[in-house]
Amino acid sequence: MRIALTLVFILAVAGAAGAGPLDAPGATKALNCAACHGPSGQSPSDAMPILAGLWPEYFKKAIQDYAAGRRPSPEMEPYAKQVLELGVDDVAAYFASQQRASTKVKVDAAAVERGRAAAQQCAVCHGSEGKGDRAKLIPDITGQPPGYLRTQMLLFKEDRRSPGDERLKALKALMKTIPDETFADLAAYFSSVR
Ligand code: HEC
Ligand code: HEC
Repeated sequence: MRIALTLVFILAVAGAAGAGPLDAPGATKALNCAACHGPSGQSPSDAMPILAGLWPEYFKKAIQDYAAGRRPSPEMEPYAKQVLELGVDDVAAYFASQQRASTKVKVDAAAVERGRAAAQQCAVCHGSEGKGDRAKLIPDITGQPPGYLRTQMLLFKEDRRSPGDERLKALKALMKTIPDETFADLAAYFSSVR
């Protein structure tokens, strides 16, 4: 409730301020996201994904999955529901239009090299450089914070991200064959690809 009231307040203030950088319909609706995802979706944190530049189709699917509890996240579920109420297309368009800069979180060079070798098994879906496949909703994982990437791999391995999703069966079967230590190497590598 407090969150909803804060948002109404922010929207009212932004509306009263007149024309400005918050003019795009998605910009005001995305203000609450900055607390965790950083300004313009450019997360400075190791744990929070960068939203800037996400493909709107992938963004929308993620929001719908969080809101429905299919991708369980106590942090994201209330915000996802709020985004659906405000209009997910506007918010998705806003983040898609933000220039994406790679994470500044530093990684170990030796881990990057080990990860590069292990990453060959990801190329069949994510492409040889990890840039993904928009038509298949396979995300670009390059430049994301390493901590976030590692956590998501563990969640897939334990079937805790989108549990039981048939579409992710092959991905999860692959994650089960990979030792947990290797996830840190893979995360270091993909986070460092420019
Ligand atoms: C309290 C912190 C917090 C706030 C505020 C927050 N998020 Fe998130 N968000 C997270 C966390 C944590 C994750 C990763 C959850 C997981 O493990 O799937 C995440 C993940 C996401 C993802 C998935 C990214 C991907 O690459 O799959 C999207 C999209 C997203 N958030 C959008 C939003 C939007 C839009 C808002 C504002 C309306 C918002 N978030 C506000 C914490 C937050
Ligand atoms: C069979 C195809 C497939 C393979 C192989 C695959 N992935 Fe994926 N990956 C996907 C799909 C599809 C998604 C999107 C999941 C969703 O919609 O929630 C994804 C999502 C991810 C994410 C979450 C990104 C985000 O923004 O939340 C990470 C991290 C990831 N993959 C890492 C890897 C790594 C590392 C490998 C190799 C070890 C790999 N994947 C191999 C299909 C694949």
